[in-house]
Amino acid sequence: MTSMLAADSSVARNDLDDALWWRQASVYQIYPRSFADANGDGIGDLKGVTSRVPYLKALGIDAVWLSPFYPSALADGGYDVDDYRDVDPKIGTLEDFDEMTAALHQAGIKVIVDIVPNHSSDRHTWFLEAVAAGRGSAARERYIFRDGKGEHGELPPNNWTAIFGGSSWQRITEPDGTPGQWYFHLFAPEQPDFNWKNPEVHADFETTLRFWSDRGVDGFRIDVAHGLTKNLDPAFDHLKSVLSGQDLFEDGQHPIWDRDEVHDIYAEWRKIFNEYTPPRIAVAEAWVEPHRRARYASSEGLGQSFNFDLLQADFRAADFRKIIGDNLAFAADSGASTTWVFSNHDVVRHATRYGLQRTGAQDEAQIMNVGGKQWLLDGGRQDEVDTELGLRRAKAATQLMLALPGSAYLYQGEELGLQEVGEEIADEHRQDPAFFRNKGVEIGRDGCRVPLPWESQGSSYGFGAGGSHLPQPQWFSRYAVDAQEQDPASTLSFYRRAMALRHELQSAEELAWEASPNEHVLHFSRPGGWHSITNFGTTPVALPEGELLLASAPLEDGLLPANATAWLRA
Ligand code: BGC
Repeated sequence: MTSMLAADSSVARNDLDDALWWRQASVYQIYPRSFADANGDGIGDLKGVTSRVPYLKALGIDAVWLSPFYPSALADGGYDVDDYRDVDPKIGTLEDFDEMTAALHQAGIKVIVDIVPNHSSDRHTWFLEAVAAGRGSAARERYIFRDGKGEHGELPPNNWTAIFGGSSWQRITEPDGTPGQWYFHLFAPEQPDFNWKNPEVHADFETTLRFWSDRGVDGFRIDVAHGLTKNLDPAFDHLKSVLSGQDLFEDGQHPIWDRDEVHDIYAEWRKIFNEYTPPRIAVAEAWVEPHRRARYASSEGLGQSFNFDLLQADFRAADFRKIIGDNLAFAADSGASTTWVFSNHDVVRHATRYGLQRTGAQDEAQIMNVGGKQWLLDGGRQDEVDTELGLRRAKAATQLMLALPGSAYLYQGEELGLQEVGEEIADEHRQDPAFFRNKGVEIGRDGCRVPLPWESQGSSYGFGAGGSHLPQPQWFSRYAVDAQEQDPASTLSFYRRAMALRHELQSAEELAWEASPNEHVLHFSRPGGWHSITNFGTTPVALPEGELLLASAPLEDGLLPANATAWLRA
């Protein structure tokens, strides 16, 4: 490879017909409402994305993944979709979408959109029809309606707790005004779950996949891909933590998660993806047992599956090494490449996680849905987070990730070294249902969704001409793009350099572990002489022979300091 890509990486990146483009792509996640606001209404929009295409190109990414931009009441940040085949008027129009896609393609950047097939919003036409049509109607069969328990059906069908808290059943009022049936929702009550036993649901999502594929999108991120098919047999009613997934079964027979028949859906979708040239790609958001990822990632299925293992890991050499080895092996089983990620719109930014007092146990509970109270309680107050250490480790971890075979997912703002915004978001400004439905326990995910600072001065720090739908703290000024662009030592300059080198050096999807000076150092090489060395320990270590290409922190007397990664060409 190397010679070809190294000779002219821009040609390789611009080749939109390359069917294998995704295997080692760097994908940048955009949370559209918080990226850039072109019309100054305080909400990011698609024109804002278009206006920032030069920035995205300079960053050196291969693709963007856009979180939902569909019409939505924003009961769950857009993951409550009113209409899967339109753009939220607050964010733009279909024409804006086409313009954005064309501009991204022109810059050699592919477009991945988010598909939310587990649930719609409660404002979706189908759901309104279902409520209006009454018991036993075909319209109700598109969702999961049940009669309640108790003498008058006043109790929910079972005691399961939804992921955002509260019951997973919501009672409706029947068209005649009487209290009526209950519907099932894994997440918020505004997100009724579809009934995937219904062929109409299948047909409608196929239409949606074709709709966006025809508009030129290159791929899809599939939300909650492991949750679509369900078996709500009362025999499972006694299971307490059934929705949290804590009791994941490994036999494909769990009532909710990772049921074997979910793959029948993805086999249908694969046929659709393959109707296009190049085939559309898909990546599953599937929180399943690691060895069960392969089916989601198979070429008869979605083709790729997220692996969140590094995101959930401690910053420790042994843990990273095991995770990397395991996932390369799982990927080999599926024939797909794996995906790596440290930050996204659901978790505390990794520059903050790594700055917590404890370097230990950053378990799922601390990271997921939380941010907030849980890590504030477990890891110390926010003002005790060591942001310098956090950023230093985050850069080291990211540089390591960018050297791994497979695709790398980046989340908007991490290239600026942004920290999570914590208690500075007052309760009345919070938007995440996890906050409202779990009062006092979780502060939710708003802290990683605060609009980006593009300029160090001015209203909303250059996000737009108006305000910002989530308040930006003053310290955002220090992280602004305009200041970082001028500074060769900034986090942004570091990301740009790392991405450019990744393109130049990337080769066959192979990795070899190399001997390292001690157990806290991970050293691996890729074909073509690309070496990556990360020092997870506390004392500087000598680097092997070779040309130093990039280090996430300055060397100290020629040694690689603690919490740093270096790339060498040997
Ligand atoms: C998305 C979340 C969303 C949930 C429900 C997730 O996996 O990433 O942001 O709240 O699905 O759609």
